[in-house]
Amino acid sequence: MVSFSHRQLTLRPLSERRRSIMSTIKVSDGIIKDEVLVVGLATKSGKGALQLESGEVDLDDKSLISILNDLGATGKADEVTLVPGTSTRLIAVTGLGKAASTYSDETLRRAAGAAARTLAGHSSATFSLPAKKVSSVKAIAEGAALGSYLFDQFRSSTKAAQKSPLKSINIHSSLIKGNDAKELAGAVQVISKYTTLVRDLINTPPSHLTPDSFSKIIVDAIKEAGGASLGLKVTTMNESQLKSKGYGGITAVGQGSVNPPRLVHISYVPKGVKTLKKYAFVGKGITFDTGGLALKPAQGMEAMKSDMSGAAAVCGAAIAIAVLKLPIAIDAWAPLAENMVSDSATRPSDIITMYGGKTIEVLNPDAEGRLVLGDALVRAQEEGDLDGIIDVATLTGAQVVALGKRTSAVMTNNEKFSQHFLQISEQSGESFWPMPLPQELRASLDSPVADMANIGDRMGGMLVAGLFLKEFIPDELPWLHLDIAGPAYNEGAAHGYTPVGGTGIGLRTLVALAQDAAN
Ligand code: BES
Ligand code: MN
Ligand code: ZN
Repeated sequence: MVSFSHRQLTLRPLSERRRSIMSTIKVSDGIIKDEVLVVGLATKSGKGALQLESGEVDLDDKSLISILNDLGATGKADEVTLVPGTSTRLIAVTGLGKAASTYSDETLRRAAGAAARTLAGHSSATFSLPAKKVSSVKAIAEGAALGSYLFDQFRSSTKAAQKSPLKSINIHSSLIKGNDAKELAGAVQVISKYTTLVRDLINTPPSHLTPDSFSKIIVDAIKEAGGASLGLKVTTMNESQLKSKGYGGITAVGQGSVNPPRLVHISYVPKGVKTLKKYAFVGKGITFDTGGLALKPAQGMEAMKSDMSGAAAVCGAAIAIAVLKLPIAIDAWAPLAENMVSDSATRPSDIITMYGGKTIEVLNPDAEGRLVLGDALVRAQEEGDLDGIIDVATLTGAQVVALGKRTSAVMTNNEKFSQHFLQISEQSGESFWPMPLPQELRASLDSPVADMANIGDRMGGMLVAGLFLKEFIPDELPWLHLDIAGPAYNEGAAHGYTPVGGTGIGLRTLVALAQDAAN
């Protein structure tokens, strides 16, 4: 007789597979030797006439514009037109929208990204777009790098048909030179590398991404980055440790699955420099959300492989901040669980005890994110000395209804922290919008039998979820709750530097926040 453990499941870990490849980035104003030259095209307001925006490169504007007119180019965003070049084999003309004396960093980032996506299949390109400041040069490099993404790890017979992203990206600019240029390119390379990790994690299906394999991928990524030599440490708690230490939220969500839950903790303490600030990042890590016994409808359930986007973003951001050697200490927490349906799944009306002792009546097992986050938010505070705590989560469908697929929500107990974050997000190009936490909605979370229920008013569901999390935060600790349910996962067409599938939203603003605190 052969006996099977029902928990036995062997998966080839993602770390053994080929990870998505990355382009190399350079900034220089040297001679252009690449296969393709990328320039911008804008529409003169009112007149509808085209205006070439080729940065520091001189082109024969007149003849190029006449060709572009013949081809029907309009210069609108996300329009990329390829024409034969003279010194390069091709010229890629990427839309900037309305002509302006200065283009915003995000306009340039998106235009570079759209061009990079179109140029998949080519090997190298020089981007010469209208940058007037160093931050714009960086934005162009970022857009080009982030637009150069391909997720083909699970393709076999169709793999060869996929066009490889650009291998080499050159940003043409004289605004920054020598070591500074190298440093800028290096920083963009780090952002691009860890955004790729976040996107890969999101795109990896739950057949291959479980709480355990997620934790192992993070451990491997930290080792590869340099680990202890950078001041990075990672520990993972397994299910029996979580149970015995009282992590009732994570345990309750994970108990219906053969793939047991985990809690990953990344600690980054800067080496050889004075630590200026300390932040905790906490990310929702549901590797698949079926809704549990409140089973979600089949249509659209596949998108719930992205329900670990917050966890991926905070882990990626913590590693990137360490690789950039920023003088800000970070604790990143990833409570990981698979929300499944089985005879061991949490039932509606079950009462659980969260880490720290609060009891929760689980009225809806599909409101699981707040349960794993509550545990992790309380644990994160035990590390002490926090200047702020930020949670990142694909928390509510209500977020998508309220703000759509491209704008994330920020909720807070500290207006100043929130305003600062919003300012930083404007620089990073990630779209966030402030949302209130109205006290009058709080009573809807009252339970007749426990300290709190896990659902309240359906109307304003995003805010109710925020109010639930707020119960785990003391007033004096500056806290941000980022609901990224819509923007985390792109089910539509690619646009700008955003591919189909996992977008990597959250990472850039978290890293930018640490960069800002370092200055
Ligand atoms: N993971 C979902 C939220 C979600 C929905 C993310 C759509 C991305 C896209 C979350 O766990 C959930 O199911 N939330 C419920 C909460 C409700 C039961 C109070 C929701 O929003 O319907
Ligand atoms: Mn759910
Ligand atoms: Zn969920």
